Amino acid sequence: MELIKVESYSELSEIAADFIIKRIKQNPHLVLGLATGGTPKGTYQQLIQQYKQGNVSFQNVKTINLDEYVGLPTSNPNSYRSYMNENLFNHTDFQLSNIHLPNGNALNMEEECKRYDSLLEEVKGADLQILGIGRNGHIGFNEPGTPFQTKTHIVTLADSTRKANARFFDHIDEVPTHAITMGIQSILSSDEILLLAFGEDKSEALYQLLNGAIHEDFPASALRTHKHVTIVVDSHALSKVFISSN
Ligand code: PGA
Repeated sequence: MELIKVESYSELSEIAADFIIKRIKQNPHLVLGLATGGTPKGTYQQLIQQYKQGNVSFQNVKTINLDEYVGLPTSNPNSYRSYMNENLFNHTDFQLSNIHLPNGNALNMEEECKRYDSLLEEVKGADLQILGIGRNGHIGFNEPGTPFQTKTHIVTLADSTRKANARFFDHIDEVPTHAITMGIQSILSSDEILLLAFGEDKSEALYQLLNGAIHEDFPASALRTHKHVTIVVDSHALSKVFISSN
């Protein structure tokens, strides 16, 4: 795994956006795996800015999102579909027919998992997958204990994840209890992974990721088995890593 250390959130966002744009220039038909959450918002702002300046087009880029809440209408501002529209798609030239998210409102969620897996197989996984990391080491919504060979599935969200995400809702009771997520195996099938981590509250997760055991209790540790992972990370998120190596 390669580490790119940054000093600020704006630097993280610029580096991540430049990384993505470089890959799109190399392959305008890139299959881009997208993540939601607080961390990539600045990256998406940078992508929008670069698009508006005429430096990049997303017209032929195909997107596959990691996850979606179950049972939250897509019109709800906290659905990941709304997040993606608001933070990226509505302000760029991504084509609706190229955008893919799991449907958290499908009548038959088991069938929806199969549909999403077929789609992932059809595109042969992401060329570049953007990832955040949960404080408990989750990637996508793959919570601790998820087998590494899992494909798209329905998860019961960990209490810690619902608490962490409650900041986006009026009340924690409104945070859905379930989500549909790409599995760890699907994430690992990406050709390349760009993981973004920022801030002190990710320091334990970064420590575990870089120094802990490769184990299902810490889902992000599966990334250590992948051949091409780049982590863009600030000094606060790395603070425990430095302490341990002193
Ligand atoms: P965050 O979420 O970017 O909002 O910290 C990351 C995650 O939970 O995967």
